[in-house]
Amino acid sequence: MMHAPVLAPLTVADLDEVAVIEKISFTAPWPTSAYTTELTTNRLARYVGARINGVLVGFGGIWLMVDEAHITTMAVLPANRRAGVATILLLELLQEARRSGARVATLDVRVSNVEAQSLYRSFGFAEVGRRIRYYDDNGEDALVMTTAELESPTQLEIEVALRTRATERLAHA
Ligand SMILES: CC(C)(COP(=O)(O)OP(=O)(O)OC[C@H]1O[C@@H](n2cnc3c(N)ncnc32)[C@H](O)[C@@H]1OP(=O)(O)O)[C@@H](O)C(=O)NCCC(=O)NCCS
Repeated sequence: MMHAPVLAPLTVADLDEVAVIEKISFTAPWPTSAYTTELTTNRLARYVGARINGVLVGFGGIWLMVDEAHITTMAVLPANRRAGVATILLLELLQEARRSGARVATLDVRVSNVEAQSLYRSFGFAEVGRRIRYYDDNGEDALVMTTAELESPTQLEIEVALRTRATERLAHA
């Protein structure tokens, strides 16, 4: 049985483990210095890590702006994917967004990243636009996706269902 991930805010002490996941997960990884800035000077930023048996298996981040929250990153160790870890992290980030008073959450995702798009669609994120040639490394477009109103019954129902399912799944993994 895979233990449920334990969530906690990321700190600079976590950044060596973040770098490992980052390099495996992204074609253009953020340098550790970018995370240090996020954690120490960006007052809008919140980063959450997920640990299983003490090992960092995933993390995600969000910027809490006045009425909008923006998901900045999300990654899970390959060996721990498809077990609901990103779902648990995103549920936590959206709760945080709601607590901060955000009305909706948005994000950018590579058009080729169908896995992540599928995760986001399961949360009710829908495509609202496209940023042309947004990514410098390969000139790829970004899809801009947004949730329904975070306090709407539709959005809350989606999240309740996802939490129930993720909890059951982790218990049986
Ligand atoms: C995207 C990512 C964070 C998903 O993490 P995860 O912990 O495996 O996600 P979950 O197990 O919570 O998956 C939830 C849902 O997302 C979708 N999904 C996740 N991985 C998928 C895949 N490889 N193929 C298709 N759908 C996928 C599915 O709908 C899945 O639900 P299901 O398993 O019931 O079908 C992970 O694949 C990753 O780290 N990728 C590399 C980094 C990245 O692309 N980050 C996003 C940048 S915007």
